[in-house]
Amino acid sequence: MSLTRIGVLISGNGTNLQALIDNIASGNISGRICVVISDRKDAYGLVRAKKHGIDAVCINKKDFLNDTDFNSKLLEELKNRDIQLIVLAGYLRILSTEIINEYRNRIINIHPSLIPSFCGKGYYGEKVHKAVLEYGVKVTGATVHFVDEKADTGPIILQEPVKVNNDDTLEALQERVLKIEHALLSEAVKLFCDGRLRISERKVW
Ligand code: GRF
Repeated sequence: MSLTRIGVLISGNGTNLQALIDNIASGNISGRICVVISDRKDAYGLVRAKKHGIDAVCINKKDFLNDTDFNSKLLEELKNRDIQLIVLAGYLRILSTEIINEYRNRIINIHPSLIPSFCGKGYYGEKVHKAVLEYGVKVTGATVHFVDEKADTGPIILQEPVKVNNDDTLEALQERVLKIEHALLSEAVKLFCDGRLRISERKVW
């Protein structure tokens, strides 16, 4: 079976990217990461990519005159490499309609809560866990979903709960959720690469 050509988009540390790299190396995922693209040049995920001989590209919005030019460059980098699956692994920008249409049902995002709670505009990174702790919910978790036009609203592929303890710190909770994210994202990408995901309206089988 041929390997699915994957493009991973990041903005930060890239531990989810690392989980994918490791799962591909161990033969668990039938894919190949052909490019890692960051919108920030200091993202450590770019270093992780280079260490594994993966093309690492920074496409920073500030280097472009407008959104259209920025988005065209992003799409060009993906299409030039015949990318078949885009994985958003801690990418902090909303993708353009053009990219979403071009890659409809072929873009996967990982979110550190149980969608539809603590998600959408403004809920990213530590802010999610801070909101979870402030609200006092007893359970949070991670969600992997397909990406549509809005923030965190696409069909859900996999979810996994994580218990919130009364004495949890932000760091402790984030660490536990992140561990779950690594497993969940890897599993979803594996299923996609094996051709085992089917979308019917909002339901992913
Ligand atoms: C993860 O919590 C992810 O869900 C969120 O940003 C974080 C990225 O972590 N969108 P990393 O860069 O993969 O370590």
